[in-house]
Amino acid sequence: MNVSEKEKREGIAGELADIFHRQSAIVECNSILQFNVGNAKSNRFQKMAEEDEKNLKMIESVINSFGLRVPAKTLAETMSETLIETVSDESVTPLEQLALYTLTKQNQMMCCHLVHKSAQVSAADIKLALTPFEGIYASFTKQVAELVVLTEEFGVEWLTGEKPASGITGRVRDAMATVMGAVLSKTAKPFEEMNVMEVLAIEHRKVDALFKEIESADDHESAKGFFAQLKGDLTAHSIAEEDTVYSTFKTFADSNEKMEHAQEEHMELRSILDEISLVLDDEDEFSARVEQLKEKVQHHVKEEETTLFALIEKHSSKEQQIALSKAFLDEKRVIQINVGTDDIAASAANDRSIGTNTNSNDASL
Ligand SMILES: [Fe+2]
Ligand SMILES: [Fe+2]
Repeated sequence: MNVSEKEKREGIAGELADIFHRQSAIVECNSILQFNVGNAKSNRFQKMAEEDEKNLKMIESVINSFGLRVPAKTLAETMSETLIETVSDESVTPLEQLALYTLTKQNQMMCCHLVHKSAQVSAADIKLALTPFEGIYASFTKQVAELVVLTEEFGVEWLTGEKPASGITGRVRDAMATVMGAVLSKTAKPFEEMNVMEVLAIEHRKVDALFKEIESADDHESAKGFFAQLKGDLTAHSIAEEDTVYSTFKTFADSNEKMEHAQEEHMELRSILDEISLVLDDEDEFSARVEQLKEKVQHHVKEEETTLFALIEKHSSKEQQIALSKAFLDEKRVIQINVGTDDIAASAANDRSIGTNTNSNDASL
């Protein structure tokens, strides 16, 4: 790629201006941000704030010695304004504030790295002027790592009300998650590449996991929380399934009756979900009804993964199976956005009757 010396210098000057602009916003933020944290943590923020001021001065002196000043780009200005507005806004949660603050510092880290690496392939005067960026980059790298730790230390508590898992159990879980994440990112396919059976099966496994979470919850409040998730998931899954998958295969003579049967089971499952919502605070009744729901769901899922999956294999091509998975996911997204809460979802679902699906997706084969 051909970049003239003039363009190169202007390009680097633009990056420096952006970095300076964001850094000024970070320093301003530090005076606003309190994060409602205890002394030990606010000391860590204090140290970071001091380092930020030092870095701002360093960046200014680098721009001076670089000798070319251009205005910051619009995106850097917008990001800086958004950051200051966000940390000044009391209606924004501390977690969101911390997330945006961390994102800005990650951006600084990346841009400092870019400037530092560009200096290495530039003329001697540029190299010399930009030398301090090696240190500034190292400082942001350290700060970003520190912010990840701080997010864990009090972000988890803000979000869940629980202290983060620490000690050996927490570390083992972290290690497992890292290994799983690495394995999944290598082997897993994005949803768009999965066929409808793969997508449905993943969702079924999530439902299994939620039943286990309900059964092994530390207290009844947590169990109710898991149930709310289960209800939302099952409702959206079942409606989307009817509107896309069932409606598609109903058109085949050998499938119609099976689809109607499956749809009847959905209606029964959704009415049990509603009944459980009425006995949420009666622990014994709640557990008994959840157990009953689990058995019915397991029965339904087993049938689906054998009978329905066999019909899908028989009547559709690989391309159609992938298109159907997209239609299912799109429909589910619409249901989740529209219904918002599980209660509305359930009553909407129970208004349905067999054979009158309102499918607007083009999932037909
Ligand atoms: Fe299903
Ligand atoms: Fe189903």
